[in-house]
Amino acid sequence: MCDCQNAYAELDAIILRHKDEPGGLMPVMQEAQNAYGALTMDIQQRIADGMGTTLSEVYGVATFYAQFALEKKGKHVISVCMGTACYVKGAQAVLDKLAEYLEIPVGSTTSDGQFTLQATRCLGACGLAPVMTVNDEVFGRVTPDQVAGILDKFQD
Ligand code: FES
Repeated sequence: MCDCQNAYAELDAIILRHKDEPGGLMPVMQEAQNAYGALTMDIQQRIADGMGTTLSEVYGVATFYAQFALEKKGKHVISVCMGTACYVKGAQAVLDKLAEYLEIPVGSTTSDGQFTLQATRCLGACGLAPVMTVNDEVFGRVTPDQVAGILDKFQD
């Protein structure tokens, strides 16, 4: 993110670049997400104002496309595979344990910004079911009892 006095300076520059372009909203949203990490409501409002559209239109696009995040992700992103093989082998119990341990619902981030917990589709490692990843690291045959130990490695 831009380290300037106006936290929106970079966003304003992005908007300016695409403002008069047909279909300019998508590139603005993509570049804004790259610059700020997420399209929070204040950023969406600024985009709507700058592009001469409504917040509801920007919000509609942001929620329709999976590539857009409305909240900043944590420093460490935990993904638990909920594909069939993992589900059958107990992924739900692992996911529940993580949510309990982190004290957050699935799909959200801890208040200290350390962890985001999400469920995901098949990760292509079904032989290791149930599978979870933390950032790029893969953990296979995970049991709920191992969850705390795995996360300890990533605590600051
Ligand atoms: S179902 Fe989980 S890795 Fe394939």
